[in-house]
Amino acid sequence: MTSRTSRDVLRRGLSVLGRAIREQPRIFAVAVSGSVLFGLLVIASAYVVGAVVGDVVVPAIARGSVGVAALALAAGALFGISVLRVVGIFGRRLGAGYMQFRLQAAYRRQVTRRYLDLPLSWHQRNATGTLLSNANSDVEAAWYPIAPLPFAVGTVVMLVGAIASLFVTDWALALVGLAVFPALFALNVVYSRRMAPRQARAQRLRAEVSGIAHESFDGALVVKTMGREAQETARFAARAGELRDALISVGRLRGVFDPMLETLPSLGTLAVLVVGAFRLRQGAITVTELVSVAFLFTVLAFPVRAIGWVLAELPRSVAGWDRVRRVLDATGEMPYGDVTLDPADPTPATLAFADVGFAYEPAEAHLPGAEVLGEVTFTVPAGKTVALVGPTGSGKSTVAALAVRLVDPQSGTVSLDGVDVRRLTAASLAGTAALVAQVPFVFDDTVRANVALDRPGVTDDDVWAALRLAEADGFVAALPEGLDTMVGERGTSLSGGQRQRLTLARALAGRPRLLVLDDATSAVDPRVEAAILAGLRAPAAGGPAASILVVAYRRATIALADEVIYLEQGRVVARGTHAELLATVSGYADLVTAYEQAEVDGEPQPRPYDEVTALTSGLEVEVDR
Ligand SMILES: Nc1ncnc2c1ncn2[C@@H]1O[C@H](COP(=O)(O)OP(=O)(O)OP(=O)(O)O)[C@@H](O)[C@H]1O
Ligand SMILES: [Mg+2]
Repeated sequence: MTSRTSRDVLRRGLSVLGRAIREQPRIFAVAVSGSVLFGLLVIASAYVVGAVVGDVVVPAIARGSVGVAALALAAGALFGISVLRVVGIFGRRLGAGYMQFRLQAAYRRQVTRRYLDLPLSWHQRNATGTLLSNANSDVEAAWYPIAPLPFAVGTVVMLVGAIASLFVTDWALALVGLAVFPALFALNVVYSRRMAPRQARAQRLRAEVSGIAHESFDGALVVKTMGREAQETARFAARAGELRDALISVGRLRGVFDPMLETLPSLGTLAVLVVGAFRLRQGAITVTELVSVAFLFTVLAFPVRAIGWVLAELPRSVAGWDRVRRVLDATGEMPYGDVTLDPADPTPATLAFADVGFAYEPAEAHLPGAEVLGEVTFTVPAGKTVALVGPTGSGKSTVAALAVRLVDPQSGTVSLDGVDVRRLTAASLAGTAALVAQVPFVFDDTVRANVALDRPGVTDDDVWAALRLAEADGFVAALPEGLDTMVGERGTSLSGGQRQRLTLARALAGRPRLLVLDDATSAVDPRVEAAILAGLRAPAAGGPAASILVVAYRRATIALADEVIYLEQGRVVARGTHAELLATVSGYADLVTAYEQAEVDGEPQPRPYDEVTALTSGLEVEVDR
């Protein structure tokens, strides 16, 4: 670390501290008052101890008898100072703790809130592991120096007070203080500078080690089925070894500096006694004063280290703060419009794509984004079902994301009931269109909570109705506690098809007027899949009054659609009924027949985001590494 960058870190670290103080000024004032009180009492206690020794103990020894009144007075003074010191420590600790944990909580909330506001494209560029550490260890690291900060500020006041009182007592002893305290301070600075890069490295390695562990557990199935346990363990062991070395180097540095920090004040005390003995003989000071000053040196050593603690934490704080800032300053959240659609409108919505072009943001800003969709135009008329069919990677999921405005197109418009979706309010969008994604997500919560999602007015009856439509009522009723059964990560594990149906029921419970199903029933067997779609299309029989855009592969499912849009490489190449396309578009016939054939042969066609493919694509990454 060059001195220039370390000065830069110091400057930025102090500005982070400044922000903390501006955000919690009152608590900080309480903590610093406690710390200053403590500091002044430390100085006072040195002088009281000096007075007790010089004015009570020494005369008593000389006389051979102890004055009870003087002794009681001395004891009372020392006791009083101790009590006040306790008050000071209490105020400081409580204030510092409040301040640190309040700031942590506030920034954790801000960061997670920001995650939810940021657009999908931002999330696609940022790994989950990073997001977790931003909200957790980075926020913590940013506010670490807050804990010792009030102590350090109080210590600075105390040092100034100590040196001033030394000058009042005797200039020669003050010179000793002027030599020792700055030296102690400088040693702390050197220590924290040396320590900072080692701590930073250890912190980085800690994150890497937990990242690898996270990945191995997450991919436990791949690791096991592919017999990669040994390699994974080796990968983990290598990083764990680096972390051990980094921590040992931290310990070694501590081993060198800690004794020096302990010894320096003792040397100071020694110097005070030597110089003081001369001054005593010269009659310049009294025994009381000498004892006071010697005592002062011993009690000051510990608080001075608080300054070192703050300095040592600054680089980590700055690094954490930079990462937190990156999230808080990230832009690109979707501006919503102010047009509302009536949520109680009982009629299905009309979805229209007009000349829509879309490209994902490139991973690096200077690369051009490849076009994923071009000139896509189609309509899902109110109450109709349109099937979106196309080979893998043709852009079906992208169309689905555009339909519910997870992303905005670069050209053309997507509209609901004739209103550009960009002009709708967030609530109108959420209340009108529901997407059931290709990868089902189940919260670690009860079935009821997973389906109702705390939306107002969703009763148990509504939940059951939604489950019935999603053909999920059967298996939910068979769960040990019905709607109250915990499902998800730590609850009852559901099969892939059960998860899909639960997420479908979740979408239905909101009574959407447009339902977008992105391959949402791929893990359900073909008969049930067709039954679900047939049920959704029959409002008379309790189905939703919704228009449906459905990404599907199976002939029986597609055949139910009023119209089929056939997509290839992001372009609509054909549209019509299933029968028409089957007869006229060879690519379409090939795709649907190949899929059908594979299922008949008992080899389910690999589906892009099926668990099976998710596993093997994870493997490729593994092997590449
Ligand atoms: N987040 C992303 N960033 C960059 N490119 C992406 C992203 N998601 C998808 N793509 C690319 O966009 C194209 C269309 O992807 P999309 O997921 O829409 O296809 P799909 O038709 O749904 O495929 P599948 O049938 O496999 O689900 C693909 O070429 C894909 O590589
Ligand atoms: Mg897809």
